[in-house]
Amino acid sequence: MPALQPRATSASAPAIAVSGLRRTYGSKVALEAASFEVRQGEVFGFLGPNGAGKTTTIRILCGLLRASGGSASVLGFPAGPDGVEAKARLGYVPDEPAFPARVKALPLLLAYGRFYGMEPGAMGQRARELLGRVGLDGQEQRSLKTFSHGMKKRYALAQALLHDPPVLIMDEPSSGLDPAGTAWFRETIRGLRGQGKTVFLSSHILPEVQQVCDRVGIISQGKVLAVDSIEALGKRMQQRVEVVVVAEGVPEPALAALRRVPGVLGVRRDGDKLVVEAERDVGPEVNAALVQQGVRVRSLEANHPSLEDIYLAITGTAGTVGT
Ligand SMILES: Nc1ncnc2c1ncn2[C@@H]1O[C@H](COP(=O)(O)OP(=O)(O)O)[C@@H](O)[C@H]1O
Ligand SMILES: [Mg+2]
Repeated sequence: MPALQPRATSASAPAIAVSGLRRTYGSKVALEAASFEVRQGEVFGFLGPNGAGKTTTIRILCGLLRASGGSASVLGFPAGPDGVEAKARLGYVPDEPAFPARVKALPLLLAYGRFYGMEPGAMGQRARELLGRVGLDGQEQRSLKTFSHGMKKRYALAQALLHDPPVLIMDEPSSGLDPAGTAWFRETIRGLRGQGKTVFLSSHILPEVQQVCDRVGIISQGKVLAVDSIEALGKRMQQRVEVVVVAEGVPEPALAALRRVPGVLGVRRDGDKLVVEAERDVGPEVNAALVQQGVRVRSLEANHPSLEDIYLAITGTAGTVGT
């Protein structure tokens, strides 16, 4: 472990708190009164289309950009260019990591370590260990300029972890990565959560967010439109569970029986299928009702709303998803 000064952290403070945060670029409003909180120990996905204001928010949190209004804090400490206490508690993985020309992997990490005031012996050991952990063993003396994009992202993560911060902020961690690289980042994020770290990541890749995040905040055009668990967002949108049944020759009385199942909102035929709209997963009840009516059920599947359905319903920006 690095020889950092032990830093007091309030157990009750949110890992990240953003309140009425605003940022303009000239006359362009990039962020308009954004508010949300990230709890300690969770993986929080900051989801929105290109240009929504994700990177602007992240750069303010990391102290690389000054807010035009509102406030942001990390574990209760004010974020911003002068936010030394906040900066000491976070690690930042940028969207497009860029490094000074001609620097080599290990020497640059050691330089960062000195910047953080880490004790040289412990720092050297930790830097090597971290390079190994991100899959860059044997690359210690290689010039960062020759690294592929995926290697640069891994290296940026090693750099972000160097001072063992409790909060990791990752801007589009899997952008530009191949499937193996994406899977590696996903597992690494899960591992970090397992160690009790808080991870705040931005993404426009919906399935990725759905796989790894405990909660999401949805941002569009500089406004945070919703913050919740994926499941709760689904409920909030009052999107329904669709139970799709494939069965042979369902008679009208069987349809009537389905309509009487508590929670069922509607039943319709769709080719050889029955689609049951319900306010929750009524699969077992639907199956029982059909069997009781003498219907042979071939298959039955409950479709919960995907994050994409919810996202589209909230942002209404179908054209920009995944771009
Ligand atoms: N340096 C800048 N100068 C002018 N406009 C900017 C600058 N950086 C970002 N913007 C604008 O602010 C908005 C939010 O950008 P950004 O935070 O990068 O969004 P995201 O990361 O969600 O794609 C966009 O409309 C973008 O064009
Ligand atoms: Mg961005």
